[in-house]
Amino acid sequence: MSRMFDSMKIGKMVVSNRFVRSATCENMANDKGFVTDNMIKMYKTLAKGEISLIILGYMYIHPFGRAFKYQTGIYSDDHIPGIKEVVDTIHKENGNVVIQLAHAGPQTYPQIIGTTPLGPSKNVRNPFTFSKPKEMSESEIQESITLFGDAAERAVKAGVDAIQIHGAHGYLINQFLSPYFNRRTDKWGGSDENGFRYLKEIFLQIESVIPKEIPLLIKLNAHDHTQKEGITPTLAIKYAKWLVDLGISAIEISGGTNHYSTFDVVRGEIPSEELVQWVPEGIRDSAKNMFKEMQGKYNFQEAYNLELAKSIKPRIGKTPLILVGGLRTLSCMEDIIENGYADLISMCRPFIREPLLVKQIKKGRKDRSACSSCNRCVAALPNDFPVRCYENSFPNS
Ligand SMILES: Cc1cc2nc3c(=O)[nH]c(=O)nc-3n(C[C@H](O)[C@H](O)[C@H](O)COP(=O)(O)O)c2cc1C
Repeated sequence: MSRMFDSMKIGKMVVSNRFVRSATCENMANDKGFVTDNMIKMYKTLAKGEISLIILGYMYIHPFGRAFKYQTGIYSDDHIPGIKEVVDTIHKENGNVVIQLAHAGPQTYPQIIGTTPLGPSKNVRNPFTFSKPKEMSESEIQESITLFGDAAERAVKAGVDAIQIHGAHGYLINQFLSPYFNRRTDKWGGSDENGFRYLKEIFLQIESVIPKEIPLLIKLNAHDHTQKEGITPTLAIKYAKWLVDLGISAIEISGGTNHYSTFDVVRGEIPSEELVQWVPEGIRDSAKNMFKEMQGKYNFQEAYNLELAKSIKPRIGKTPLILVGGLRTLSCMEDIIENGYADLISMCRPFIREPLLVKQIKKGRKDRSACSSCNRCVAALPNDFPVRCYENSFPNS
């Protein structure tokens, strides 16, 4: 039997194999962030696939931190019953459930949150919205830290097995960590220690309100791939070591930012026609040109974050490392596990395409994902379509 089916522990949580479903925004909640029947149905299918750890799509901890209209919210106790239904659905099939907590920061749109997005600094213009964020005040920073804790408590009430902090992909926490976005000169910026402070305070706040046996995980960028230097592997190693010192239970390594270096997160094709459907008529052509200029620069490469993982793994001792980004063939995954470059293999787009992939691999019926990384599932997000595989057809195109 493949090493991919060896069990292991993340903190006190036992996982039955090395496959992780990386957090995937479902875009299936209603416009107040409540879980819908469609979402439960999707997880019912996914849960039958024998993935040992299913990370639900990122949930926003406050309405100002929402990235997409139909993203799931966890900012009110009223959200708990719906989320619990998803958790129970997955537990019935013996999968472990993780909730990923997020604040979009500047990676959202005023029309979604009804105000100017918040960020650590106001300097960097968002290439999609052409706007700059509002620099967070001390009280806004403190309030958001408390809100992460409140959301974690709700996740526990919903019955989760673990919590993941979304510290990657250019969202609020990533922006505090990144010298490209964080230009503050107070205690929240200006040095590596100060840039780390926001994440550290969130970690400590969450840790103080959840039971000890619930592992706390993080998704961390090991490279921002931004125009000017942001998080680099050297800085990521420093952050990873500090997270280990704090007692993090596992680190998922990723790279890229959703608005400032989009296709470094999801390498593959750039479906420009589909991506610009939602863009207002007057600026659609310029948006299309922007995507055309990107063509060929983000070609798919298997395990495209592997070198980042290799640089971090030897520096974090026994803390499990989860690798995400372009994992598609069983032989590559086995090679990574056997060589100890990572402990778990995380996938997103392959499970959108084939929710039962792991079960089929276990039965020897498959040894690779059929996902072509066409990225039309990515284009579903800004168009407010539910996330599913649109390789063969895309609404309205
Ligand atoms: C449709 C879609 C939704 C995503 N939603 C999230 C999310 O909610 N949280 C997150 O950390 N990453 C999210 N990602 C990024 C994935 O988790 C993953 O890091 C990336 O797709 C690379 O992995 P893959 O090659 O296996 O798809 C999303 C990606 C896609 C395609």
